[in-house]
Amino acid sequence: MNILSIETSCDETAVSLIKVEGQFPEATYEILGNALHSQIELHAQYGGVFPTMAKREHIKKILPMMEMALEEAEILTKSTEEIPREIQEKLHEILFREEGLADELIAFAEKHERPEIDLITVTSGPGLEPALWVGVNFAKAISYLMNIPVVPVNHMEGHILASIFDIEEDDKLSNISFPAISLLISGGHTEIILMKDWGEYEKIGQTLDDAVGEAFDKVARMMDLEYPGGPKISKLAEEGRRQNLPPFNGKELPRPMLHSKDLNFSFSGLKTAVLYAVDGKELSEEEKQALSRDFEDAALEVLLKKTSAAIEEHGAQTLIVGGGVSANQHFRQEFNRHCLTAFPDLTVYFPNPGLSTDNAVMIALAGHAKSANASNPAAARFIKADGNKSLDD
Ligand code: KG4
Ligand code: ZN
Repeated sequence: MNILSIETSCDETAVSLIKVEGQFPEATYEILGNALHSQIELHAQYGGVFPTMAKREHIKKILPMMEMALEEAEILTKSTEEIPREIQEKLHEILFREEGLADELIAFAEKHERPEIDLITVTSGPGLEPALWVGVNFAKAISYLMNIPVVPVNHMEGHILASIFDIEEDDKLSNISFPAISLLISGGHTEIILMKDWGEYEKIGQTLDDAVGEAFDKVARMMDLEYPGGPKISKLAEEGRRQNLPPFNGKELPRPMLHSKDLNFSFSGLKTAVLYAVDGKELSEEEKQALSRDFEDAALEVLLKKTSAAIEEHGAQTLIVGGGVSANQHFRQEFNRHCLTAFPDLTVYFPNPGLSTDNAVMIALAGHAKSANASNPAAARFIKADGNKSLDD
């Protein structure tokens, strides 16, 4: 089975074509085509993601990304067949808000035979609303045009499955033991999810204000670093650690909610503490290194403490860390080191570096999981290929 997957929830326009063999969760996923356009440069000049600008960019890039993925997969063949008037009109209706996209799609369809795709999966949330709709409407249009069912998926489930996708060994999902705890750390989310089985998710902790990635990005801005701040802070912190620099301003940063009895987080206070510490000053390179390290240490301590509490509370066998911030090398090292001593029987998973930030491969995995998971009735809610139904998840 070939899955076409689409991701437009934030600032990456991503499309992939994945060949699936076998049944979930033992299936093999071969990445036949994988295209991704990052809008980072566009948003960097404004210091963050602008939803309406993201939408416009997704509209521009989604069809080229699909074409790129399908070309890489070598499943496009030429055609010169005209698309009937009524189908063209319907496509214009579905893509009413995506200016120009219907005409582009019609031109594409008139040049190519219907490619061999059996299922479309698309991120339906969470994410930036205007950005999400581009992917969802595009999926609906393809679904209608090519008569292919589409399954809407949750972006966070994508991150979880990406973290256990063994892309280096056998292109399968790792055979994890339940219960599993998943710590999702991204630009928009900081969540602890209890997974009792495949497809059974329960959110048991979350941030009450900023996401940890968002805090990385905002702290970076205070130090005049470009969006996204995570990778830049992480480099500076590494240097600060290597040189064993004293704490910035001679003071530790706060660890918000470290001692709260629940599994929730708060990062807004930490961000504000950095704001006061910087106090509008221009920092030297060394000061940036020290402050970055202090910030990482503070965020990491809270993440480790709450995740450990969740593992203990639920007797977890597996820890799955996912989302953009899980690319952080220091976090990876410290999570592994800590868990090895505190929970010797626990298996810890981090995503392959290429799959830690947003991508379409993870959306294909989540779509396959959802469509295959018949034991979970809420999971297999297909949307028929009539292009009319809404994709509410
Ligand atoms: O998962 P993701 O690509 O998008 C969302 O779903 O939000 O995560 C993006 C976030 C950004 O906040 C970025 O600064 C952060 O991941 N990030 C990092 C690193 N690489 C990306 N944070 C810390 N260290 C990194 N190496
Ligand atoms: Zn994400």
